Amino acid sequence: MGIIKKGTSYFPDKEFKKRAWINSNSIYKEANKNPIRFWDKLAKELHWFKKWNKVFVHKPPYFKWFVGGKINICYNCLDRNLEKRRNKVALIFEPESVEEREIKLTYYDLYRLVNKFANALKKLGVKKGDVVGIYMPMIPETIISMLACARIGAVHSVVFSAFSPNALKIRLQETEAKVLITADGYYRRGKIINLKESADEGIKGTNIKKVIIAKRANNKIKLVKGRDYFFDDLIEGQSDYCKPEQMNSEDKLFILFTSGSTGKPKGIVHTCGGYTVQACWTAKYIFDLFDDDIFWSTADLGWITGHTYSCYGPLLNGTTYVLYEGAPDFPTPDRWARIIEKYGVTTFYTAPTAIRMFEKEIKKLKEKLNTLQIIASVGEPIDEEAWHWFYREVGKERCPILDTWWQTETGGILITSLPGIGPFKPTFTGVPFPGIKTDILDDKGKSLPANKEGNLVILPPFSPGMLRGVYNNHKKYVDTYWSKYGNKIYFTSDLAYRDRNGLIRIVGRADDVIKVAGHRISTGELENIIDLDKRIDECAVIGVPHEIKGEVPVAFVVLKSGKPNEKMKKEIVKRVEKEISKIARPSEIYFVMELPKTRSGKIMRRILKRLFTGEELGDLSTLSNPECIGKIRKTIGK
Ligand code: WTA
Repeated sequence: MGIIKKGTSYFPDKEFKKRAWINSNSIYKEANKNPIRFWDKLAKELHWFKKWNKVFVHKPPYFKWFVGGKINICYNCLDRNLEKRRNKVALIFEPESVEEREIKLTYYDLYRLVNKFANALKKLGVKKGDVVGIYMPMIPETIISMLACARIGAVHSVVFSAFSPNALKIRLQETEAKVLITADGYYRRGKIINLKESADEGIKGTNIKKVIIAKRANNKIKLVKGRDYFFDDLIEGQSDYCKPEQMNSEDKLFILFTSGSTGKPKGIVHTCGGYTVQACWTAKYIFDLFDDDIFWSTADLGWITGHTYSCYGPLLNGTTYVLYEGAPDFPTPDRWARIIEKYGVTTFYTAPTAIRMFEKEIKKLKEKLNTLQIIASVGEPIDEEAWHWFYREVGKERCPILDTWWQTETGGILITSLPGIGPFKPTFTGVPFPGIKTDILDDKGKSLPANKEGNLVILPPFSPGMLRGVYNNHKKYVDTYWSKYGNKIYFTSDLAYRDRNGLIRIVGRADDVIKVAGHRISTGELENIIDLDKRIDECAVIGVPHEIKGEVPVAFVVLKSGKPNEKMKKEIVKRVEKEISKIARPSEIYFVMELPKTRSGKIMRRILKRLFTGEELGDLSTLSNPECIGKIRKTIGK
């Protein structure tokens, strides 16, 4: 079973096609003829307490799916699997330390734990519609927490555990969550990270009244009486059945914050019905999930990929999957490959940054990885070299490589080649998933022909799992997604082009979002934080290419007065770490006298970027202060 090369692309061979869920182009024809009917049919295969009466309702810029239907995603992940898969392993937890034994939880184990914890949450006073903050590492309790919230109709808002206390604070303030679930600590590269300490700091000035702590690292923590509870104590003695809440399709399931163009992160809202349908079917068809598969997605649960493909997607399909706690290259660079071998992973989903890191550390991989059937990537464009290394060393020239495109906002994968159809073409993500309509438009809204770069957009009926709004911020929702081309065309903020066969290549973002090691960071947000320093007059942050991380931030800083020094650089870095996270740290900080600006006073970041990368500067006619160019060039030494 494998893939064969035809021209510059690869296709699944006969044997692979035969096994795949989807192996004929007819699905595209059928779905694209009537996308609403296509999703309607797929939705019926899930469990609904009550069927919907309208599949799709469009009131631009808002839309709804499966209106009138009642569903519970936790019921679909667990209860529905009890009949056939009660004793099948759902989750394999691989601790970071190689000396520690793995934990395997069956569907029944997970079911009981989730039910108990759901009862515990209720006892603490959590009700349907309440927002619960989750600030947790990669441990089973995080998944149990998400599912328990979903079971009782509470809306979870997961905050990435590497985010700083301040980043946690602003997210909790926005949602006014009253309960936070966290952990004592966790392991990262052999060290214990004291997460509880960060949580304590982050909840100051928020509405959090109760803190639940999962024990992981047994590190010393401070407890506040009447506020702090241990996860294990709470579930002790709870009944292992908690009636699942019958949720309206359009009730909120979760809020996940993401970076956008402006300073503050946006709370992306996903709802119960549509998200469940899309998570289930994209996971099944794209990763070609069968009952004997072992699926592993390396993404952290704090990001959308973790939500959809390290929690809901595999469980909805009754799949066994791996949850790995630590760094993929710890304690040895091939740790990830050993995990694949240890469990016989069949589907491996990771990010280009990880692939480039593996490639740098290991030229030739000794592990055979012969259980792998599909390998896939997400989060940033994958360069040709990394693609080929992945194909050769990991896929052993026989696994389809899927380059999946999507966003926090889309809830699930929207563009990729399907493994049983192909083609797999280096650096191209593929075609829209059946039923998804996309286009590439110029600035005026004209659809562009092959090989012309423009803005990637999604057309009605969009997808069931797409966002239903920005939490408490209608204006931001409209401005960000529905203004560029009006309220019926979703603007992705990505630049892309198509080849002659309609395969889409993602070029990068059109806004000031950058992807640092796959993490979505806004340069605008960084600028706001750097500007907080009273000595700084203004600054500009750009993303520049980086060999491993894809992109890294570089800051250009103008002081109000005085001379810059090394200490100030350190302070700027510290501030970024404190306000966001270490992951957002600028890789370089340059002090300059002036920033290039247009006559209307807008900073021309494009020029800074080109100065840094050594590209042609292009059209400078709108630049009001050309004399600064030479000086900046001297400062950066390029
Ligand atoms: C980028 C991650 C190129 C893109 C699931 C998008 C990609 C942003 C790909 C969303 C890909 C995602 N090729 N670029 N296969 N997948 N992106 O919200 O710029 O963290 O808009 O969601 O990542 O990032 P987010």
